[in-house]
Parts: sequence; structure tokens; C-alpha cells
Amino acid sequence: MSYTEQQIADMVQPTKVHRSLYTDPEIFDLEMERIWANAWIYIGHESQVPEKGSYMTLNYGKVPVVMVRDNDNDVHVLHNRCGHKGAKLVDRPCGKIPAFRCCYHGWRYRLDGKLLGVPHLQGYDGTDFDKDDPQYSMQKMTSESFRGFVFATMNPNPPDLRTWMGGAADVMDNLCDRAPEGEVEAAGGVLRYEHECNWKMFIENLNDTMHPMIVHRSVVESALDYIKTLPEGSPRRDEAEIIPPFGASYETFEETGITGFRFGHHYDGGKTSIHAKYTLDPEYEAAMLKAYGKERMQEILSFNTHNTLYYPSLTIKSAVQNIRVVRPIAYNKTIIETWSFRLKGAPDSMLKRTLLYSRLINSNGSMVGPDDLTAYFRMQEGLQSQASDWIEMHRNFARDEKLEDRMVGKGTSDLDVRTQFSAWREYMTEAA
Ligand code: FES
Ligand SMILES: [Fe+2]
Repeated sequence: MSYTEQQIADMVQPTKVHRSLYTDPEIFDLEMERIWANAWIYIGHESQVPEKGSYMTLNYGKVPVVMVRDNDNDVHVLHNRCGHKGAKLVDRPCGKIPAFRCCYHGWRYRLDGKLLGVPHLQGYDGTDFDKDDPQYSMQKMTSESFRGFVFATMNPNPPDLRTWMGGAADVMDNLCDRAPEGEVEAAGGVLRYEHECNWKMFIENLNDTMHPMIVHRSVVESALDYIKTLPEGSPRRDEAEIIPPFGASYETFEETGITGFRFGHHYDGGKTSIHAKYTLDPEYEAAMLKAYGKERMQEILSFNTHNTLYYPSLTIKSAVQNIRVVRPIAYNKTIIETWSFRLKGAPDSMLKRTLLYSRLINSNGSMVGPDDLTAYFRMQEGLQSQASDWIEMHRNFARDEKLEDRMVGKGTSDLDVRTQFSAWREYMTEAA
């Protein structure tokens, strides 16, 4: 390694970070080993493997893994690697199988990863090869689920998932509580979007409330102009509710507030957010009222966050029921996936709005997401310059308030990025 441990620690200062964090492939590899292998990383939702034998594949950091439901209905996260000579066992994004079978020499595995069969086994007679030795099975990752959202870790001694989420778990609870039946399920497929930038730029943008009024101004103005052309009395269109709030003022974003937690998690909003004024579908309201009663329903629907990060891999929008998942590929390449969720027990109009939001804001054909991506490209390019080695994050420094388990600050504070980098430093130095 070309850096000393002290040099790595010094790359994050209270109000600035070193540009190597975005431009050096060696730092990226270290992040995969020290952050991504030790944090709880989001894998998928249990509803994506609905039946015995259902599976989905993905990369955990650089490691290929498969989430699968076994014949006892237990969900496992397994290394997608054959115990023989290491071939990747399943290659498709998702599907259903009775057992795993390697494409190379035909070793077969149960759905929980245990080695089932080796062709022409007598060739091993007299050697010390033992088919029942667990080292030849598919290896399991430590995994836990929170309200159906499955996370895994390679940390041999992790905090339990709920403890690790801390107060940020309230937002995932809220996402699920917004369903009259208290559960959500993945629906409508995935939008995959390649970002030619470092993975941290995407999550740093998440609660960056100083950019929407600049970066998204043109689309907001176009949307407002279009809305003006609609004839008087036309039914209110969902698009008209979704796009204009991105042009809210500094003061509006300031009021939403940002809350940060240990391990790098944070959200903006709480009392209010840019989603707070969405129309309440009367059919949905009736279903919620029936399920929860008035007081509890109001409590659920008035917890208005905008974006929440579970550092480093998962961002969610509870009020809109979609999530974005971060899959880093290289120091300058990241895949962002958007998944949408159906609120069980809610009318179809709710899922329709979620899918519309995902398309309008998050897809590669959307009007808002590509604005952000342009800014990331430019940062990735600009940071090649050695004009300065540092990127600043001073805004509201020392004015954030420390409460028992969280930091709270104004909505325009850099509290969110300071929260991320304090976790970055902790993972990168303590795991060394
Ligand atoms: S590598 Fe899988 S059976 Fe040989
Ligand atoms: Fe943005």
C-alpha cells in the first residue's frame, strides 16, 4: 500500500476531504475492503425471492453474491462461487431453480448452499477430500432482515442490524407503516443507471439541499410553464406535484432540517419535506384510517422525510416508496438502481405514483436525475486538477446540535457529508 495509516486518517478533516478519495483506484480498493466489507450492505427485499428456489444475483462490493429462498422458506445470502474451482454459479439477474448446479463440472448444491453432489465421486477415493466438509459448500454471508429489507455483511463481528441503523430505522418503519397492511413488496422492475463517477458523489448529493434550485432550475421552470397552459379546472396531475418542489427556496430547504446518526446514516426532513404537500388519495386515506385509526394514521403520514441514507449502500424515500441502491464498480464508475414498492392494502394509484416518480426523477430518461449526473461528471473531471487537494464541507460547521443519539442541523448544513466522512474515517482506520 502506498499510504500509511496516518495518511489515510488525515484525508478526512473536520471540514474538508482529500480529492484522492474520488480519484485514486487504490483508495477505492481500500474502501471496498474496509467500508463495504464491514458495513451492513443492502442486498434486496424478501419479496424479490417470493417462492422456494427464487433467487436474485448482485455484486456486494466486488463480490458476486446470490440471495435465495430455500425449501424451508428461509432467505440466505450466499457467495456466488462454486466450492470446486470457483466458477460463478448463477449468472442471470433472477430466476427460480430447484438447486444450484455449476456450469463447469456439474457440482450441485442445495438452496441453502450445502454441497449435494459431485459427479464421478470415486475419483476422490483415497484422497483427503471430504464432500461433507463445509469448505466445499457455497459460503453463507451473515445476513439480517428489517421489515423485509435484507442486508448482509462480511464483518465477522457486526453490531446487530437494528442497532447499526440507529434512529434512521424510523424512516424504514415509516415506509412500511404507510401500507395499510404494514408491509411493502417490490413491484415494477428495476431502473439501472450507470454513473461515470465515484460512488460517494451520489450519496453526498442525496441531502445536498444547496443544489436543487440551481441544477434543477430549468426543468422546474419548464414544468411550471407547462402547468400554466393546462385549461382551468383540469384535473390536478401528479407530475405537477412532483417536479416543482425541486425548485424550492433556500429558506424552505433550510426549514426541513437534517438529522445524522452514527455509522454515516442521515435523513433530511421529518416535520416537513418536499413531499409533504402531495395530495392524499381518498381511497388510500380510507384504507389507512380503517387500518390504523385517525391518530396513528396522522402520525404516520406526517413523518415527512425526503431522502434517507443507510451508509454506504442504500437510500430510501419513505413518502414515495422507492429506494436507490448504490453498486460501486470502480473509483469512477457506479451503478445506481431504483426499485419501487407497492404498499400492501393500498389502491393501485399509489404504486402508479411511485413508478411515475421513479421515471420522472430517478431514471436515465428522467428530467431531474441527469441534471445531478452532469454535476457528478464535472466533479469527477474537475478533481483531476491539482489546483487544490481539498474539497470543503464547512457549511454550518460547529452549529449542528448534538442530541443523545443524533446530530441535528439546518437543512442546508453540510452535516450530512460530515456524518458520512466521520463514518468513512472510522471504518477506514479502525478496520485496518
Ligand atoms: S468449478 Fe464448479 S464444478 Fe468445477
Ligand atoms: Fe438533484
